[in-house]
Amino acid sequence: MHLLRKFPMLMLILSLYGSAQQSRITQRIFLVGDAGEMQNGKHPVCDWLKQHIDWNDSSNVLIYLGDNIYPEGMPDAGKKYDAAKAAIDYQLSVVKDKISKAFFVPGNHDWKQGKSGGWEQIKNEEYYINSQGWPNVQALPMNGCPGPVPYLLNNQVLLIFMDSQWWLQKGEKPGLESDCDYKTEDEVITALKDIL
Ligand SMILES: [Fe+2]
Repeated sequence: MHLLRKFPMLMLILSLYGSAQQSRITQRIFLVGDAGEMQNGKHPVCDWLKQHIDWNDSSNVLIYLGDNIYPEGMPDAGKKYDAAKAAIDYQLSVVKDKISKAFFVPGNHDWKQGKSGGWEQIKNEEYYINSQGWPNVQALPMNGCPGPVPYLLNNQVLLIFMDSQWWLQKGEKPGLESDCDYKTEDEVITALKDIL
């Protein structure tokens, strides 16, 4: 996401209104891209979200759209692991002990910028997020699978999680031999059509 070199973190707020009563918001979805780098030990977008949004309101949902860890995802151990963990911890802290749901979707940097070993790092990141065991937080799709993974937020809003980097990744990635629900590009497209 080259635009985001200039604007390291973008945030988009999507409000979904109930159709019967236009003034009633059923869901607010906060989409945060490129959150994977701290600035002097802080994360201005996460700080803003903490200060201005009620994360004990279940109509608020937070989605980290990918590039959750710069520059090359989460290695197994070492200094880079510590930095990766710090970035994810800061993102997680927005919804710690809260009711609102949060989701993490992988991006190309989480996949080690498409390099060999990217799949391992995706699994490291997903494992780290999901192993927190927080009922309101999930990394999706799991195991480096492409999705689509449908997630019903309420009777009016359905999220569909997909990992577009799976399509682009040159190195190892889950394929025909994997446990993914959908293992080929054709299967992904058919599944998406079925959901829609
Ligand atoms: Fe990016």
